[in-house]
Amino acid sequence: MMQRVAHQTPKGVVHIEGPCPGDYLAKLEMNEKLTNFRPPDKQKEALIMIANMPKGMMYIARHEKEIVGYVTFHPPDECSRWIKHPKVLELGGIEISADWRRCGIAQKILQVSFSNPVFEDYIVITMEMCWHWDTRNTKLDIWAYQRVLTDLFGSVGMERTPTDDPDIIEHPANVLMTRIGKNVSTSDVALFESLKFQRFGAAINFL
Ligand SMILES: CC(C)(COP(=O)(O)OP(=O)(O)OC[C@H]1O[C@@H](n2cnc3c(N)ncnc32)[C@H](O)[C@@H]1OP(=O)(O)O)[C@@H](O)C(=O)NCCC(=O)NCCS
Repeated sequence: MMQRVAHQTPKGVVHIEGPCPGDYLAKLEMNEKLTNFRPPDKQKEALIMIANMPKGMMYIARHEKEIVGYVTFHPPDECSRWIKHPKVLELGGIEISADWRRCGIAQKILQVSFSNPVFEDYIVITMEMCWHWDTRNTKLDIWAYQRVLTDLFGSVGMERTPTDDPDIIEHPANVLMTRIGKNVSTSDVALFESLKFQRFGAAINFL
């Protein structure tokens, strides 16, 4: 069942909707400035693909027939350590069109998504890597940008989490943020803890 919440902005009403089925997304247009990760038409294909995945979830911000922002949730990458955990879901990306920023849409789309009780059954992670950040349009430096993101994700209960995941330690501004749902079992939390630091373990296995 798709949730829909109206969000008033100075530019008009935006509807926050999700989880959106792929065929619903297919009928909508993409705002031409949703270019942060790839060109809008390619990104639309990626969003539909995620919406159609068994554990994929897509929340969008829609103005009339146009998608102006989105957040994606999906199982972690097959090559990452987090895929070993059955209860980890990755918040893969959040993007709001440059035409619609600073209208509270990112904050609202996260708030609406995390009001879905299904997230209480999962550990949601987000790997914030600075090479994906739009420092050009926002005119923020990477440290100010990091602060905006940690505050934004912090507003829905995500916390900065130490790890030796190579993608995170590759740059000091990168951060892993995580949120453990209320219904996640103690053993699943313990398994998650054991995945945070693996390099030392890997060295011991090698010896
Ligand atoms: C980061 C991003 C998602 C924020 O979207 P947004 O809809 O503009 O964010 P909101 O309007 O909900 O902002 C919430 C708060 O974050 C802070 N913030 C957001 N953008 C900011 C900026 N450019 N400068 C300073 N503070 C900012 C503010 O405190 C803001 O609250 P306020 O406007 O009441 O002061 C958007 O800039 C974006 O799509 N960037 C490109 C993609 C990206 O970097 N995604 C994150 C990595 S996956």
